[in-house]
Amino acid sequence: MKNTKPPLWELREISKAFPGVQALDKVSVSIFAGEILALVGENGSGKSTLAKCLAGVHQPESGELIHQGEPVEFAHPFEARERGVATIYQEFSLVPTLSVAENIFLGRYVVKSKLTGIDWEMMRQQTSEILNTLSIQFDPDEVVRDLSVAEQQLIEITKAMSVDSTLLIMDEPTAALGLAETRQLHELILRLADQGQAILYISHRLDEIFQIADRITVLKDGRCIDTQPASSLEMMEVVRMMIGFDIGQHYPKEINVTSETCLEVDHISTETGVNDVSFDIKVGEVFGLGGMVGAGRTEIANALFGLDRLTEGSIKLYGEPIQLSNPADAIHAGIGLVPENRKEDGLFFNFNGSLNITLSRLSSILKWGFLNLTQEHQTGKYYFEKLNITSSGLERSAQFLSGGNQQKVVIARWLFSQAKLLIFDEPTQGVDIGAKIEVYRVINDLTSQGYSVILISSDYLELLAMSDRIAIVRDGKILQISPAKELTEYELLSIASGAEGNGNG
Ligand SMILES: Nc1ncnc2c1ncn2[C@@H]1O[C@H](COP(=O)(O)OP(=O)(O)OP(=O)(O)O)[C@@H](O)[C@H]1O
Ligand SMILES: [Mg+2]
Repeated sequence: MKNTKPPLWELREISKAFPGVQALDKVSVSIFAGEILALVGENGSGKSTLAKCLAGVHQPESGELIHQGEPVEFAHPFEARERGVATIYQEFSLVPTLSVAENIFLGRYVVKSKLTGIDWEMMRQQTSEILNTLSIQFDPDEVVRDLSVAEQQLIEITKAMSVDSTLLIMDEPTAALGLAETRQLHELILRLADQGQAILYISHRLDEIFQIADRITVLKDGRCIDTQPASSLEMMEVVRMMIGFDIGQHYPKEINVTSETCLEVDHISTETGVNDVSFDIKVGEVFGLGGMVGAGRTEIANALFGLDRLTEGSIKLYGEPIQLSNPADAIHAGIGLVPENRKEDGLFFNFNGSLNITLSRLSSILKWGFLNLTQEHQTGKYYFEKLNITSSGLERSAQFLSGGNQQKVVIARWLFSQAKLLIFDEPTQGVDIGAKIEVYRVINDLTSQGYSVILISSDYLELLAMSDRIAIVRDGKILQISPAKELTEYELLSIASGAEGNGNG
């Protein structure tokens, strides 16, 4: 099928460089009204940078942005918005201390009159309406800080949708969403495209892309490799274009379980909703926690990492009872956590990559009480190579690394800390397929060396493939523990969503 209409947007030979990296190199692509155009590529390939050029956040140093045949230049995101561009950024842009409604209308408060000031009632009402059309249930007055990552993601989406737009850019909108919310969002996107909206959709979840995209554009190292109708492409072809070679096995699972017990969790509960949870983990085992967003998986992880106090129950590591009053206790005992929200909990954004890694065991690289910079650099370099992280990140602040590379730095830190039990909370969220396989290999490496792993993942295919056993969590309780091999996708989803019997959650 050929588009006979002129494109809504045409990007012609867009280039953008940052110090030390050519983020975009003469990228050309057209976007048509009513289409879903997916933008894919490895971590650091330039997807977010391209989106930000269209959104007026970055100014390309050469090339043209053409809107309905007319060349435009944006000095400010505000000007892009006037041209109908609405954006959901990969990094959250919410203000934690403001309410849902205030966040949605931030920067464009509705004013009633000079005398009465801001029309809160109107803003609240409009917020409720948008939330309703999205079938999202929120109190507009709720403070954003109190919401989960998934909920904040939904507010980001709501915020972008509240602006009249003709082009909606979504940069990893489902990274923090569970299956049910993802499905909801996709229905909405398809509806919007039907109504004539153009959608630029960035995601590492290729299965999603093949479900919704009309065309797919592949970026690699800042260059546009190709744009093709999704119907004419195979997933493996796209992967090959992204990374330049065939990946072989998607889930390289190794079984390294031993008979020795690493962790024993005995009837624990917390104030945050963990409800009488018991399980044990063997040395070398990958123990998966499955469940919907908000089921209590992160809360279990937080309890094991000393972030949340136990109100009942006890924990033993290698047969020894341990008391976890704070994360320092957990780290001391040998438990590490790669958190879900790496921006808030995971990284020190002003530190460079290697310092972010060595931070977990600084004492080991101190010399006469001073930081041994050579050793720090070498350690950083070792892990950057091991996990295939862009080497420029070694010396630059972590904030300038692409999303997926930031995730790898957090993982590297825990590898260096030499914890015995590592909890990975959504470790491959926002990570490209090549790096995902690196993470799986890291998990194999760890378990073969006698580490144990707790894997929390909303990517149920990954969870089923990479775990030895899976506990299904709902409402803070473990409903069932089974060998991953004996569990089907369908069972996992229906039990996790509480929809046993009717099949649809
Ligand atoms: N503000 C910035 N300053 C310096 N370098 C940057 C900046 N933003 C991006 N970069 C660099 O530009 C390159 C492209 O980054 P970009 O964020 O566009 O990648 P991406 O494709 O969105 O990756 P991911 O899938 O990890 O989100 C990377 O090398 C990144 O480190
Ligand atoms: Mg990005």
